[in-house]
Amino acid sequence: MESLLHDSKKTLVTINGIMKDHNSSSENNNVVINLDHGDPKMFYSYWKKVDNECSVTIKASDLISYFVNPKEADFFYQMPGFNDAIRRVHRVIGNAVAEDRYIIGGTGSSQLFITALRALALSIKETNSNGGKRIPVVCAEPYYSYYGEAIEQERSKLFEWQGDANTFQEKSGPYVEVVTSPNNPDGTIRTPVVNREEGVVIYDLAYYWPHYTPITSPADYDVMLFTMSKTSGHAGSRVGVTTYYRWAIIRDQDTAKKMKKQILLTSIRSSHEGQLRATKILNFIADKYEHDPYYMVEKPSKVPKLFEVEGLFEYGHRVLGQRWEKLRAVVVQHTPRIRLPDFSPSFCNFMGKLTSPTPAFAWVEFESGEDAEEVMRKLKFQGRNGSRFGINVSRRYIRANMMGDDSSFNLFLERLSSLRIVD
Ligand SMILES: Cc1ncc(COP(=O)(O)O)c(C=O)c1O
Repeated sequence: MESLLHDSKKTLVTINGIMKDHNSSSENNNVVINLDHGDPKMFYSYWKKVDNECSVTIKASDLISYFVNPKEADFFYQMPGFNDAIRRVHRVIGNAVAEDRYIIGGTGSSQLFITALRALALSIKETNSNGGKRIPVVCAEPYYSYYGEAIEQERSKLFEWQGDANTFQEKSGPYVEVVTSPNNPDGTIRTPVVNREEGVVIYDLAYYWPHYTPITSPADYDVMLFTMSKTSGHAGSRVGVTTYYRWAIIRDQDTAKKMKKQILLTSIRSSHEGQLRATKILNFIADKYEHDPYYMVEKPSKVPKLFEVEGLFEYGHRVLGQRWEKLRAVVVQHTPRIRLPDFSPSFCNFMGKLTSPTPAFAWVEFESGEDAEEVMRKLKFQGRNGSRFGINVSRRYIRANMMGDDSSFNLFLERLSSLRIVD
């Protein structure tokens, strides 16, 4: 059987066999690079340029009260400006219909995903007794590993994880299907696979933004989830006070009310500091496209400092596009038995031109049949093995983060390019 060799200056590693000589020629050779998590560090250099324009000052006496929106009995914890900024950014980008919908801010995807599931399962159970059984939750493989792990951890009496939606088509009864589009891990555009009347669909649209995929129409579904982590890259501020937001847009009032109740009872609301920061960032993004002279027909004589940087989505698409190009070049030249998914360009309504998908993760297949995690480990990389994305997904796949910082990505390319095939 063929095997893959890793061969750098002073390092020779047979991936299919034993490590032969692994004397590192440089410090870098010993560094283990983490490409496992979807850490969006590539956005750091963008936001660095507008540190001052996008900073938020919070005085010790600010935001003391629970109540920021006393007019809204159910939503007193959510700042009106936060709701407006979310609606505005979706309108400007054209990726989702958010007018006349409930906007529910939350602390990260685990909270809103599970909250949405509880609310939907409760609504389903009220109209369909389902013989007292738990509501199955499914998603087509390969699926984002978090869903199953979070649901199993939850041990809910209302719903249960049943894995691959493709194996659920012949079954009967109510269910919830999760559709992630573009998909994590493989970047594909997805639609539901079960399609039965008794089903409810949660659309996880974390990556439906122009830096990852062409925006072909505004998403208009009953339950949609988005997250600041992947929109602007502000993923890490969940420590202590929450300063990144994931929001759900719900059309049906009854389900939205149940979600609000869940949020109130489980998290005692989301942090106002986080809402403030998200509002600032989202309005900056929208300002760029609504008021930047570059996009305006009548150009003002003086360009405000704010607009000297490129738009967030042009930046993101450019950086990811360059990374994908480099990765493909390395794969073609050095490692012919590694396969990357192919994506066709589509017309992006937001960019006003044909653009190619540039997914947030590379779904790498080792066609020679190697265990991808083994290979990556020997190259001193941590990636997420295919088996985490579904029980039928082969271990020859691995998911590698494309949104990390430059140095990790460059090391990834360097080490990958040292792989070659031997008989
Ligand atoms: C599809 C999808 N949804 C949600 C999330 C998590 O987002 P958050 O940072 O809000 O937890 C991720 C993170 O990788 C994701 O890939």
